Amino acid sequence: MDELIAYFNGEFVPDSQCLIHATDRGFRTGDVVYDLQRTFDGKIFRLREHLERFMRSLKFTRLDSGLNIDELEALTREVVERNEDLREPGGDFTVTQFVTRGRAKSVVDPVPPTVCILPQRIDFAQFAKFYQSGVHVVIPRTRSYSTESLDPKVKHYSRMNFVIASLEAADVDPEAYPVLLDENGNIAEHIAGNFYLITDGVLRMPTDHSSLQGDTQRVIREMAKRLGIPTREEELQPYDAYTADEIFLTNTTYCILPAGKIDNRPVGEGVPGPITRQLQSAWSEMVGVDFVDQALSFANP
Ligand SMILES: Cc1ncc(COP(=O)(O)O)c(C=O)c1O
Repeated sequence: MDELIAYFNGEFVPDSQCLIHATDRGFRTGDVVYDLQRTFDGKIFRLREHLERFMRSLKFTRLDSGLNIDELEALTREVVERNEDLREPGGDFTVTQFVTRGRAKSVVDPVPPTVCILPQRIDFAQFAKFYQSGVHVVIPRTRSYSTESLDPKVKHYSRMNFVIASLEAADVDPEAYPVLLDENGNIAEHIAGNFYLITDGVLRMPTDHSSLQGDTQRVIREMAKRLGIPTREEELQPYDAYTADEIFLTNTTYCILPAGKIDNRPVGEGVPGPITRQLQSAWSEMVGVDFVDQALSFANP
């Protein structure tokens, strides 16, 4: 397949040329923040909202990309346009912006940052079957970030605890999706998505105390309001998940992914449950692409 075109340190280059030096702090110390959007039928979704979160991550970590939000938006749109002819029939892209503190010797060493806007073809086969079977959520032993160490609202790539959590979940089921607890034992988030459960018709989700402010989550809240589904942001424990009627996860790429099991216990009756299905349909209508059918068309036979 033809190489996609990325933006890397001021130039548009084939993605194989986005090479990070071994002394870059992004690689060495995880000194890197990012954001990620996806396209639906080639059109990028909620770019500005994602870039606003990206600017907050940069501000919090005191990283300077050298670009303002308008410039980042224009460059991201150009990356998408330059790759449109390379989009597979029926396929879509994710686009990731990331900024590292570059090859600095210390946090105050004034060297240029590493700035990249990287498109990737969405690998729908990775998760497509879970729209039908439901994903197996496993709660690993490793806990999520705490606001007292690294605030989970920052979108960064310092993710070794997520890696360990993934290994622990894979010990239970190689296909499991780990959902971490926070330091107090409340449910935080999936390593790449937000967590929701439904009890007696109420859509319940953790607060942003211990999870990323997911852009998908923001839309889910608005959508639920429009559909008349009551929502509650609150502290949730494994008990709430084990006794829930429905569970699902959201992120930019898989949108709304139902869970079929949690820690080997079946969730509710049938996947997806009625409220999850209602939200999935409303989402597809909003973006103009049936994202479940799209993913299933790429599923492995
Ligand atoms: C840790 C974590 N939580 C939640 C999310 C969901 O965020 P969004 O809906 O903006 O993709 C992500 C997305 O990558 C994530 O990495």
